[in-house]
Amino acid sequence: MFLTPSITGLIALTSLPFSVRSGALHPDIRADTNRDGQVDTAGDTDLPNKAVWTPSSGAIFLPNIGDATGRCPDTDLTGQPLSSTELALCNDASGDDLLSPEYIAPLQTVPMADLSEDAYGHVYATPDATYDRLQSGLVLGIDSRELVTDSKVWDGSVLVRFDVYDRPDSGSDVVALKLAPVLTHHHLQPVDTILSIAGSAKNTPQRRFLSDLDKARRRAGVEEPIFLFNETGEILFDQWAQDFFEPAYASMPGPNGPIAIRVMIRSAQSTRTAGRHVFETLRGKGVGGFQPAPGFGFEEINSFGNLETIPPYTSKSGVEYKAGRIITSKHFDKMPAESMLTFLECQGMQSPLVLESGWLLIGHVDEFVQFLPFGNELGWTIAVPDTKAAFEVLEDIQRKGHGGVKAISFNGTAGYDGGWPGGYGSPDPDELRLTVDDLLRNETFKEVNEYAQRHIDANLQVLLSDIDLPPADIIRIPILFKTPTFEVLDLGDGYPPRITPPIPGEMQVMSLWPETINGVVLGKHYIAPKPWGPIVEGRDVLAEAVKEVYAKANMSVSFVDDFLSHHVWGGEVHCGSNTLRETAVEWWD
Ligand SMILES: *[C@@H]1O[C@H](CO)[C@@H](O)[C@H](O)[C@H]1NC(C)=O
Ligand SMILES: *[C@@H]1O[C@H](CO)[C@@H](O)[C@H](O)[C@H]1NC(C)=O
Ligand SMILES: *[C@@H]1O[C@H](CO)[C@@H](O)[C@H](O)[C@H]1NC(C)=O
Ligand SMILES: *[C@@H]1O[C@H](CO)[C@@H](O)[C@H](O)[C@H]1NC(C)=O
Repeated sequence: MFLTPSITGLIALTSLPFSVRSGALHPDIRADTNRDGQVDTAGDTDLPNKAVWTPSSGAIFLPNIGDATGRCPDTDLTGQPLSSTELALCNDASGDDLLSPEYIAPLQTVPMADLSEDAYGHVYATPDATYDRLQSGLVLGIDSRELVTDSKVWDGSVLVRFDVYDRPDSGSDVVALKLAPVLTHHHLQPVDTILSIAGSAKNTPQRRFLSDLDKARRRAGVEEPIFLFNETGEILFDQWAQDFFEPAYASMPGPNGPIAIRVMIRSAQSTRTAGRHVFETLRGKGVGGFQPAPGFGFEEINSFGNLETIPPYTSKSGVEYKAGRIITSKHFDKMPAESMLTFLECQGMQSPLVLESGWLLIGHVDEFVQFLPFGNELGWTIAVPDTKAAFEVLEDIQRKGHGGVKAISFNGTAGYDGGWPGGYGSPDPDELRLTVDDLLRNETFKEVNEYAQRHIDANLQVLLSDIDLPPADIIRIPILFKTPTFEVLDLGDGYPPRITPPIPGEMQVMSLWPETINGVVLGKHYIAPKPWGPIVEGRDVLAEAVKEVYAKANMSVSFVDDFLSHHVWGGEVHCGSNTLRETAVEWWD
């Protein structure tokens, strides 16, 4: 906590060398209790209940954790990279200079005309007392250099006390404030910027992916060019811009609408080098970062493809999620990192709903649930994979006499010079030879898909038991799953493996085609992975079926080829990108 006096007053002392008569003075300190973006000292609009913060009333202040002047280092004086913990320590509120006054919540004391020359005051915050000054109506400000990471330690509440001494009298006043919660974005919020990872000259798949993504970006009407992180990954190219950080924000009322700061949350994957981008690349003016407690290796369960946000709704049990609600998933008996769950829970607004994705090899929620804008009462709907619909597409092809066509039409390995032939990270030649007939006669394949569908349905039921959404509004995307044909990667770094084997009685599946649900929602435009489905009479029948279901939500679709850049590595367009969305959100309203 950092109190920032910005006009002169009398210098206060913190010890009292004499006795005083309490109560004879009436100091009055005010904050923006009624949340209209200004502090009213002339009238009484900020007076009612100013000493008690409630969800509907009470002033709000921001974590001022950006780096407006670019002073925060990434390396020490000898040029060695700072540790993750050290990286996160520096921000605009660390230190005593006022580096970004626009993120300071105002406090003002009402003028006290009758004070003697010897009067002095003392302004301080509890629980964290700091330093002070006073008189003739002080203009002060408050910001935070910390986030709420565990509300048992600090829940973001602050009481600012204002004591005035004018021998022999004294008086005291108090105003309550609370730190704005860190909130994650949902897909109905407008997009400012799409982010992805630059591909080096020899990384042809990534460069092709980026070229497709950029065309789709233009079609979606996003003006800002794609922001590209430099390549990272000491062992493997880390192309997963969705996974190593989650863009979030904190906002408070301002005179011209909400004032907001972005807070980039680094994934709880301490050995994932790409997570340093949060501080080394993103931290800047109006952008801060959060470093979770270290010590989690690089387990996929903690990637942020495993964190999505349900758009705003009121639950069936009456809980209002004004800024939306987080979903994440467990892998049977394994939960995501506790430090992250505690952090998210303690923001108090978007209490994470935990789904089940242990049945998937990678195991992220973005592999089986998506939220789309929709013309119903909620204003949105849920999309899920539908294996039955996908089999119907195949059966229809067979019925029309085209069962001999390739099930997966991907044919372009030209220019591809990465990966391990025949293993993780390259197409499986046997799989590319499969026909529609082959898939339809494979009973094991059908069982695998029934298994996947049971888990999808169970997850959907969890969502529908909380969300009042008519089942008829659900969008069902034709998708099929397979069992992986390669051994899973263990980085051999002494930490738990990225992916843990399935528990007895369960399997781990992944999508057969580039998984069209795992894309980027940009308003009414949708950027989907190009599915490379069966080609009949020159048309990708699966791609057309996918377009048709998104059209039920009035959404147009751009397809991006991610087969070699992402799909063969177990992810898709969504996993390989991220979005910065609107932050001017009145969550307190
Ligand atoms: C990528 O690296 C180059 C060379 O070090 C640097 O000039 C550039 O600013 C980096 N880009 C980003 C987005 O960090
Ligand atoms: C699709 O658009 C039409 C025309 O604007 C509108 O009437 C309808 O409600 C929309 N449907 C959905 C599901 O959003
Ligand atoms: C790959 O398939 C596309 C149709 O999706 C076709 O236009 C192209 O000629 C094929 N390329 C090769 C090398 O077979
Ligand atoms: C049938 O499908 C299963 C599950 O995806 C697969 O492991 C197996 O190789 C397939 N068999 C044939 C003959 O394609």
